Amino acid sequence: MPRPDSENRVRQRLLAAARRAMKRAYAPYSNFKVGAALLTTGGDLFTGCNVENASYGMSNCAERTAIFTAVAQAGPAVEIRAIAVTNNQNAPCSPCGACRQVIYEFGPNARVIFRGAKNWKTLPITRLLPEGFRLK
Ligand code: THU
Repeated sequence: MPRPDSENRVRQRLLAAARRAMKRAYAPYSNFKVGAALLTTGGDLFTGCNVENASYGMSNCAERTAIFTAVAQAGPAVEIRAIAVTNNQNAPCSPCGACRQVIYEFGPNARVIFRGAKNWKTLPITRLLPEGFRLK
């Protein structure tokens, strides 16, 4: 079990990385720029931003960009320890349902850091996605 101060350091590091990634977002349709940063259980950090498309449904959330980047760079055994998400409007923003399922796939024990209605929150993915889908 990590000590609370190490949890805080992880949180600050991930939020700073997420904010940097957010600046690279391609969001001309919603103007809602999102950044995500994840830490793997192996200690590597990966980031992502949302990438929209004129065919709106083809847009990719920041969280999935970060996770797919991690898989592409670190391989299919990558495991998410924690993932943070930020946006350019300081709006409450927890990962969407689709991203929760993808986080769960690569991090059944992952902690998710996001801005809630009142304050920043850190919650286990299983709180955000009870009974996540698994094939095995
Ligand atoms: N979006 C994310 O990237 N992550 C979230 O957690 C919520 C939504 C993006 C998708 C779209 O580009 C924009 O935010 C507005 O929905």
